[in-house]
Amino acid sequence: MTPDYRQTYAASTEDPAAFWLEAAGLVDWNTEPTRGLDASRAPLYGWYPDGRLNITTNALDRHVAAGRGDQAALVYDSAVLGTTRAYTYAELLDEVARFAGVLRGLGIEAGDRVILYLPMIPQAAIAMLACARIGAVHSVVFGGFAAKELAARINDCRPKAIVTATGGVEPARRVEYLPAVAEAVDTASHQVDTVVVHHRDGFEHDRSEFGGTASGWHDWDDLAAAAEPAGPVDVAAGDPLYVLYTSGTTGSPKGVVRDTGGYAVAMAWSMRNIYGVNAGDTMFTASDVGWVVGHSYIVYGPLIAGATTVLYEGKPVGTPDAGAFWRVVAEHGVDVMFTAPTALRAIRKADPDAGLLADHDTSSLRALFVAGERLDPDTFDWAGRVLGVPVVDNWWQTETGWPIAANPLGLEELPIKAGSPTVPVPGYHVRILDALGEPVGTGEEGNIALELPLPPGTLRTLWGNDERYRSAYLEQFPGFYATGDSGYLDEDGYLFVMGRTDDVINVAGHRLSTGAIEQVLGSHAAVAECAVIGVADELKGQRACGFVVLKSGVESTEEQLAAELVALVRQKIGPVADFRQVRVVDALPKTRSGKILRKTMRQIADGKAYSVPSTIEDPAVIEALLPFLRVS
Ligand code: COA
Ligand code: AMP
Repeated sequence: MTPDYRQTYAASTEDPAAFWLEAAGLVDWNTEPTRGLDASRAPLYGWYPDGRLNITTNALDRHVAAGRGDQAALVYDSAVLGTTRAYTYAELLDEVARFAGVLRGLGIEAGDRVILYLPMIPQAAIAMLACARIGAVHSVVFGGFAAKELAARINDCRPKAIVTATGGVEPARRVEYLPAVAEAVDTASHQVDTVVVHHRDGFEHDRSEFGGTASGWHDWDDLAAAAEPAGPVDVAAGDPLYVLYTSGTTGSPKGVVRDTGGYAVAMAWSMRNIYGVNAGDTMFTASDVGWVVGHSYIVYGPLIAGATTVLYEGKPVGTPDAGAFWRVVAEHGVDVMFTAPTALRAIRKADPDAGLLADHDTSSLRALFVAGERLDPDTFDWAGRVLGVPVVDNWWQTETGWPIAANPLGLEELPIKAGSPTVPVPGYHVRILDALGEPVGTGEEGNIALELPLPPGTLRTLWGNDERYRSAYLEQFPGFYATGDSGYLDEDGYLFVMGRTDDVINVAGHRLSTGAIEQVLGSHAAVAECAVIGVADELKGQRACGFVVLKSGVESTEEQLAAELVALVRQKIGPVADFRQVRVVDALPKTRSGKILRKTMRQIADGKAYSVPSTIEDPAVIEALLPFLRVS
């Protein structure tokens, strides 16, 4: 009999090393691991210390060898261009091996970093896998980030090359990538010698404009035509597969390091046991390869499982309408879909009764998974009602790489409770702790912490900075990983995630640092000090709202200054910050030691009961701010 959720969870907690060593059988190894857990550098744990593999063998070669060469591996569906192209496993393997040969020809070796700044086109997945094939470490940067953010990532992970495209297509405009790449390369202190450009039709700038200086700018197709395909390089399980930057409390992004072997096992295990997706199934994850959801469940997870993945270039609404997702499901026979609650809210707003569903046959769909932000019960009810399939919330983070809590459909479908991502996933020891690190009672809200070691596939460290990894995650509660989220466990062991405990915000499923936005506002000549908070937004979950105090003598209207600050954030961070709201105020509420009371401001703005710490410097400041906060 197949073990159910409770038995599986118990096995994973009783002896994690044995549990995950057995799960390693889901992956093809060059050298089978004989040990699960590597505790030699605890609390920085690793997995499969003596295992060796290549992840692309698992994602591609083994499926071709097993007779799946003619099955679609990746279906590129561009709603913005109105085109579709399917790559079979044999074709995708060929493209990946060829581009791996290109990278090798450019002198890129195992361990070298390569930044990928690409829109949602097949070349994004091909470039990721090509890096992995030769043991190079990819770092994908989301296309909605501006040059300065790209430069910050260049300086942190010091890549040998950047792979990019001429641009991305947003519904209302074309986004030129090459000027941003050129600016980032020119301004970064780390020198990048090589840029490979995939040419797309319809963009103004061409690589020939940027051929000067020390950088060699190459054309993807020219190089690929002449390249020798590269075979899979044998790497250690603990070798890094990728670095993915995410927002922390401060302005500088955190480079989450993912290993190869643990991640391969976690992907294979989660596809089967959580998502219930197996070889031959089709999965459509409407995210972006720039985010962790895209890494795990557009690229690595479905391909390792031998499934067909749909890579969608478009939006939930407006490309051309709120039936776009349903069209994709119908056209490609999607079995399992994954998206963010914001996307569902956008669809519901445009098509409240889901009338557009009737135009498409979505009967292939078995389940809809959602993650990236809290799934509000209203949206949950609506989606379940109109689709008639289980709507499964799953909670996780860039750091963990795969779900911490979910309804493990592949193991056992548990009853769903609205507002809860169901139960802790096997491998994750979820605990709710108070500020002092003591466990709280059932139903009581506290900090969600994960007992160490974390399971395979989770972060190894932060790139080049073990110290920051320890201080950001491991020191608050010794023996635990601090998730930065708060929540509670109910009497049935269901987890409810209530929100971040830090200054990280979540706008339309995009994780942003209010600190990074504050840094930009503070750089404006007129601003003496500022605070940015995330306030509740009906569509996007949260939106960033800035409060600024002007330097004395500044003569600028609020309107004028707001326009300048909004433009500055767009220029420095990128359109993804979606920063639109600025209020000029006389003073910001602070404690006597000078700490801005952002939490109190947030509580007032969200219309919640608010607490003012007794250490407040001047209570009158809060009083004066109330009218501004309540209408924000
Ligand atoms: N490259 C360049 N610009 C981008 C971009 C990209 N890859 N992605 C978004 N942007 C731009 C948008 O064009 C927009 O620019 P504008 O201010 O000129 O209009 C801005 O960034 C804000 O984008 P977004 O927050 O996505 O808003 P939107 O109005 O374009 O779309 C939704 C709203 C709800 C449709 C959209 O946010 C969405 O699909 N969200 C789901 C996100 C998701 O899947 N997250 C992954 C977690 S699983
Ligand atoms: P990211 O690293 O971009 O995936 O963002 C991770 C953060 O998004 C988490 O720490 C949560 O705050 C939030 N988040 C992601 N998924 C969920 C979910 N299913 N429910 C509630 N919050 C979520």
